[in-house]
Amino acid sequence: MAATVTVLCAVQGPAETDVVLALGAPGAGTTVTRRCGDLAELLAAAAAGTGTVAVVSAELPGLDRDVVARLHAAGTRVVALADDGPLERVLALGVEAVVAGAADPRLLDAVRDTAPIRDPLATAEHDLSELTSPTGPVRRGRVVAVWGPVGAPGRTTTAVELAAELAGLGGAGPRRRRRAGRSAGAAEGPVLLVDADTYGACLAARLGLLDDAPGLAAAARVAARGELDAVTLARLAPVVAGRLRVLTGITRAARWPELSASAVEAVLDTARRVADWTVVDCGPLVEADELLMYDTHAPQRNGATLAALEAADVVVVVGSADPIGVQRLVRALEDLGDVPVPVTPERVVVANRVRASAVGPDPARAVAEALARYAGVERLHTVPDDPAALDACVLAGRTLAEQVPSSSVRAGFAGLAATLRETAGVPAA
Ligand SMILES: Nc1ncnc2c1ncn2[C@@H]1O[C@H](COP(=O)(O)OP(=O)(O)OP(=O)(O)O)[C@@H](O)[C@H]1O
Ligand SMILES: [Mg+2]
Repeated sequence: MAATVTVLCAVQGPAETDVVLALGAPGAGTTVTRRCGDLAELLAAAAAGTGTVAVVSAELPGLDRDVVARLHAAGTRVVALADDGPLERVLALGVEAVVAGAADPRLLDAVRDTAPIRDPLATAEHDLSELTSPTGPVRRGRVVAVWGPVGAPGRTTTAVELAAELAGLGGAGPRRRRRAGRSAGAAEGPVLLVDADTYGACLAARLGLLDDAPGLAAAARVAARGELDAVTLARLAPVVAGRLRVLTGITRAARWPELSASAVEAVLDTARRVADWTVVDCGPLVEADELLMYDTHAPQRNGATLAALEAADVVVVVGSADPIGVQRLVRALEDLGDVPVPVTPERVVVANRVRASAVGPDPARAVAEALARYAGVERLHTVPDDPAALDACVLAGRTLAEQVPSSSVRAGFAGLAATLRETAGVPAA
């Protein structure tokens, strides 16, 4: 027998009771899991993964294409009730089906038969089954914060490529080039990439996703209510390729108060149950608002980054391999010792965009020597500068492992992933 379809109901007026009765009737194959009073409640219920179909009044205040896209992003299909007015206008919202009302005999079929979401942001149910298995071991993955100073040294690039390598995208490297593609290495576990940069979130755009996914802000909202579990988090973090999931960031910097430190902390704690590795793209600033320190409930501007640094098992510190970038990296490493939260001493330092034109001949050695001398960095990871490769990736919304698997810049990030596996005591892929 087919599984019962879970339905969120956001219907206005007296028709609401009729719809709930029709969907809850014995043998209907459907069940109403939430009766929502307004759009905000509907979106929250969808984000929490409580319904696979939403039945909504076409006239529900605020219902537009953007809202329908957000419901789709949460994996919820939409059936609209419209008893009058032009059908085209309602279909133009992007809903799956339109029926006349509770008495329309097509209602049940419309709810049961709406095709599963094909939106790339939606999450396949089978991927979630392992999270709900009562017999499987509870995963306790590691959290990696990717941080670095201002000046766009490559925090996002490092986070994306590191996550791709940890997820085994594109095979193990140049020697296994023929296996390259959107497939995962068999031995790898799930990897979650989180956009916690509250100044310039961009993972959705970088990976070619629709940027109106609820992502981290929705997860933080559910976490703040104490209701975030592994399945809900996974639903909010669509699979972008192979075993790589992404939790997209806030679409405007002004929305930073939505990502409070306590909510992000709870999200990252749950993330450990979803993924073997959670890689967090952090913002560049780590100062706390001194005046707000006494008010522990006041949101802090850099709370999301501070929460990520505090949660991290290892911090990857990224700097740019040019004279100014190296100077900033030295100061950043000092600053990391002074942040107002406890941060693991486990650090991996990366000099990105290494090139002779910026620092002279043998640039990797020159930068390593400077960092050893001024910041005591004993083991520096260097990643070469390759604008053509990175531009091609950004254009295609793909990772180096998929787009240019045999490039030396990809090898640089693969080496970084190998170091992290080493720090975690995990055998190399
Ligand atoms: N190794 C590299 N070779 C060439 N280009 C690179 C390399 N690493 C990063 N870039 C490019 O540098 C630019 C900035 O990188 P990125 O967005 O990763 O930096 P960021 O530190 O996250 O910046 P922001 O402060 O905007 O968050 C991007 O256009 C990226 O493609
Ligand atoms: Mg960035």
